[in-house]
Amino acid sequence: MIELRHVSKTFSKGDETVDAVRDINLTIARREIIAVIGPSGCGKSTLLNMIAGLYAPTGGQVVYKGKPVSDINTDVGYMTQKDNLLPWRNVRDNIAFPLELAGVGQPERADRAQEVIRHVGLDGFETRFPHELSGGMRKRACLARMLLYGAETALLDEPFAALDAQLKLTMHDLLLQLAAEMGQTVLLVTHDLMEAVTLADRVIVCTRRPATLALEQRIDLKRPRDVLNVRFTNEFKEYYDALWDRLRVEYQEERV
Ligand SMILES: Nc1ncnc2c1ncn2[C@@H]1O[C@H](COP(=O)(O)OP(=O)(O)OP(=O)(O)O)[C@@H](O)[C@H]1O
Ligand SMILES: [Mg+2]
Repeated sequence: MIELRHVSKTFSKGDETVDAVRDINLTIARREIIAVIGPSGCGKSTLLNMIAGLYAPTGGQVVYKGKPVSDINTDVGYMTQKDNLLPWRNVRDNIAFPLELAGVGQPERADRAQEVIRHVGLDGFETRFPHELSGGMRKRACLARMLLYGAETALLDEPFAALDAQLKLTMHDLLLQLAAEMGQTVLLVTHDLMEAVTLADRVIVCTRRPATLALEQRIDLKRPRDVLNVRFTNEFKEYYDALWDRLRVEYQEERV
């Protein structure tokens, strides 16, 4: 579904250059759920931006379903790290915006939006505006919009970062259910290793900047997963410990 071939990205401003991503090779199969984890500022969001076609790589190629990505990739739904709700639209109209662009009529739009609003626990806030919501509520509205858009591939950049532990579990369950129902391919960036192991078929650990692949770990926990209880199994602990051992090196090197 997605292929990164020797992908690199360097940002330049005047004489200054920042190497954000270096020589990443990765192949993601249809319906796979991949979690990417790595130190802050290492280049994870840059990687998603390249898959979404917002930035062009400075080296290598991003290939989506066999074609090089050279423009905005409309086959992917992208929940960016920074929420980008339209301030002049209420929650419902923000969430339904992609359907509106697709020409879906008002009653159907409202019905479909309402269902997903309920899923993310924003009922009662349909007519509120983004500035009237908490950070976590804004994140959930972005998630709802992406889910409703129903793209074949979902890119999620720290989608659950602002949520409390209980709500995270509910959202994990929702994401896994809907991804399975819709047959979606999911690429998720997270700082939470527990979340990565709970959700993913494969966890990718990135080095500190510039991001290169430090470790790829397949997670063979059976599906459907019980997002609460899976973490108490021995297999989970083994995956968690192996990944943490590698991740710790990147965080330690970052501090010195
Ligand atoms: N548009 C841009 N112009 C210039 N530099 C950029 C741009 N986007 C990202 N960078 C730089 O690239 C590097 C990687 O940034 P990126 O946002 O990809 O990190 P990240 O891994 O997503 O970090 P975090 O976990 O904190 O979100 C950083 O040094 C950042 O300053
Ligand atoms: Mg980021």
